[in-house]
Amino acid sequence: MKHDFSDKVIIVTGGTGALGRILIKSFLNCHPKTIVITYRSEKEMHELKADLSNSFEQSSKILTSLEFIKTDVTKDDEIKKLISNIFEKYGQIHILVNVVGGYIGGKNITELDESDWDKMIGINLKTAFLISRHVIPIMITNRYGKLVHVSSRTGIKAEGNDSAYAASKSGLIRFVESVSHEVKNSNININCILPTIIDTESNRRAMPNADFTRWINPGDLSNVILFLCSDDSKIINGSAIPTYGLL
Ligand SMILES: NC(=O)c1ccc[n+]([C@@H]2O[C@H](COP(=O)([O-])OP(=O)(O)OC[C@H]3O[C@@H](n4cnc5c(N)ncnc54)[C@H](OP(=O)(O)O)[C@@H]3O)[C@@H](O)[C@H]2O)c1
Repeated sequence: MKHDFSDKVIIVTGGTGALGRILIKSFLNCHPKTIVITYRSEKEMHELKADLSNSFEQSSKILTSLEFIKTDVTKDDEIKKLISNIFEKYGQIHILVNVVGGYIGGKNITELDESDWDKMIGINLKTAFLISRHVIPIMITNRYGKLVHVSSRTGIKAEGNDSAYAASKSGLIRFVESVSHEVKNSNININCILPTIIDTESNRRAMPNADFTRWINPGDLSNVILFLCSDDSKIINGSAIPTYGLL
């Protein structure tokens, strides 16, 4: 156990996704008080539960710290309800890792339509605003908080055919930077990470001829996130951490 999260209430959005699943396992190995995982699809949620039960069957007590709450994180009323339910139950939220996100690429500006644009801004940028604005007042009151958002290297260096995605992830970096100034005197850290291609099953399916060894291992990314959620990183605030690996 590298970090001690035994008294921490943690929220992970997008926990049923490729990175989220590995991140949850990494957190569980640090024995948190509670991890609330938001999910959208029942199927993905049941798959994750089964996977975690297999992985932690020797220490099933660990799994009692898990709570799954169905939430559409693009909707303010659903997030508001989520956060007030967690606060009512635990009286505190120490850590938020906002993993939720999506990608639309392979379309140039003439092919990209308005719904693509709204989808990218909604899932990659607006969600960060919505959930942060409900979690931060609780953290300010308790004078403790760690927020980590997941941006992308594309947020600082775009290469074409993904302008909506690039704009959304770039906006997220400035959002984090701006909010960091607002919370710096409240013992709250907000940062984001900038992965390139993560080694996931869906990326392997989409790019079967790529050199997977150059991609980002989700376990390595989780280690960085856990560090940013720990007090070891208390001097890091408002940063976009390069997590490019070998690309
Ligand atoms: N994969 C990469 O190569 C890569 C590279 C750079 C950055 N990133 C970023 O890293 C993060 C994780 O990526 P990933 O590959 O793990 O993504 P993923 O496997 O597609 O997972 C996305 C997660 O977001 C959830 N989600 C999507 N829309 C939602 C909504 N409206 N309400 C609630 N949940 C919603 C999904 O839930 P459901 O399963 O129920 O739909 C899933 O849990 C994302 O922010 C992504 O943009 C990824």
